[in-house]
Amino acid sequence: MTEPKTTRRQILKIGAAAGASAGIAALTGQASAQATATDPARADDLLIYQEGPKKDQPVKAADLKAGTAVWAMVVDPATKKPRDPVKGGVIIVKLASGKIQASSKPNAAGDVVAYSAVCTHQGCPTKQLGEIGSGKGKITCTCHGSIFDPADNAKVLGGPAPKRLAALPLKLDGSGQLVAKAAFTGKVGISK
Ligand code: FES
Repeated sequence: MTEPKTTRRQILKIGAAAGASAGIAALTGQASAQATATDPARADDLLIYQEGPKKDQPVKAADLKAGTAVWAMVVDPATKKPRDPVKGGVIIVKLASGKIQASSKPNAAGDVVAYSAVCTHQGCPTKQLGEIGSGKGKITCTCHGSIFDPADNAKVLGGPAPKRLAALPLKLDGSGQLVAKAAFTGKVGISK
């Protein structure tokens, strides 16, 4: 049976519109408004340390030092469990004063920004800031050397990563804890 032409045209139109919307959101750093049941983060989700002396404790903006990063996990505030233990990993960076660029501001809480910790190349963890050369102060993936700029909405500065990391929009709750303002701004993980 042949597919009716009108149906096929409609499907193509819908696909093109969805692709355009996603592209615009990625470029502008705007938050996705519609979370789904499988999203690794949703509005009001908590962020807890994944390692170190504060492991499993909530991340407070006031405890972060400028120019440093921490590795955290997005958790459901009701269960305190990750919605997705891999895709819910984030790197939180407190930028030095005045460094944040316009592309990062919509998703930041002051000078604090958060991005998916899953590299868009082959999915390795991006959990640290580089210390030397072109990676200094930038999010680095040591698997194949991709470099992302935390001040510029995780723009790719080097290496094989095809796309920037998805941003996690942030806000502060009443006690100064960092929480998600919305779902990730784009697809988390490997991109083509
Ligand atoms: S997986 Fe990150 S650079 Fe290859």
